[in-house]
Amino acid sequence: MPKRNRGRNPYRQDARTRAAKAKGYSARSVFKLEEIDRRVRLLKPTQHVLDLGASPGSWSAYAAKKVGSKGRIIAIDLKPLEQAVPAQVVAIEADAYEEATFAEGPAADAAPYDLVISDMAPNTTGDKRTDQIRSFDIFMRAVHLSDRLLKDGGGFVGKIFMSGDFQRARDALRERFNTVRTIRPEAVRDVSYEVFLVGLDRKPTPEAASPEEEAGAEGD
Ligand SMILES: C[S@@+](CC[C@H](N)C(=O)[O-])C[C@H]1O[C@@H](n2cnc3c(N)ncnc32)[C@H](O)[C@@H]1O
Repeated sequence: MPKRNRGRNPYRQDARTRAAKAKGYSARSVFKLEEIDRRVRLLKPTQHVLDLGASPGSWSAYAAKKVGSKGRIIAIDLKPLEQAVPAQVVAIEADAYEEATFAEGPAADAAPYDLVISDMAPNTTGDKRTDQIRSFDIFMRAVHLSDRLLKDGGGFVGKIFMSGDFQRARDALRERFNTVRTIRPEAVRDVSYEVFLVGLDRKPTPEAASPEEEAGAEGD
């Protein structure tokens, strides 16, 4: 840590937090999505976006501006959003691990999505390995949701704590997307070991096997 920062609380309100509030965003996290968007041209008008771990709401508010009034943002979090968002954002208080969240209602109606973005993070325990395992698990939950809910050609952003599982997480995206990028935005705090894995241009989902093919496979 640079000498001048020693002894300071790294989570205190800093210049980025103040800048986010000045622009009408509830959290400094908005600058992470803004940088990812700038670097890979993620968000476009009319897109449908599934925002996982959306509270307090800065990613949803930013994404809503980019997709415009003809787009749709489905914002899922265990907690309510804490900021005003335009009408194209539908906030759902729910657990992303609950199948029912995506089986019917607005999250199902807005599918298939152009983008799945996940800033979900586990409650940290203080035990680094436990936190890493939970972070990998929550990242993979977002990946598995994208398997079902994302369009072919669609994009994915997921947060993960850097660990020995990182390679597996990146490989999971490489299986599914034609382009995979690892981005550590400047707005990530020095003390944090989070990074974002970005998948672009989702590969076509394999066609469901026909009954004849299935029967043939059984006889092999
Ligand atoms: C870093 S915050 C997200 C900040 C948000 N992207 C923003 O810009 O305002 C992480 C969020 O993940 C949520 N979260 C963690 N586990 C979740 C789960 N299983 N289902 C839904 N949300 C979850 C937490 O409640 C928390 O609000």
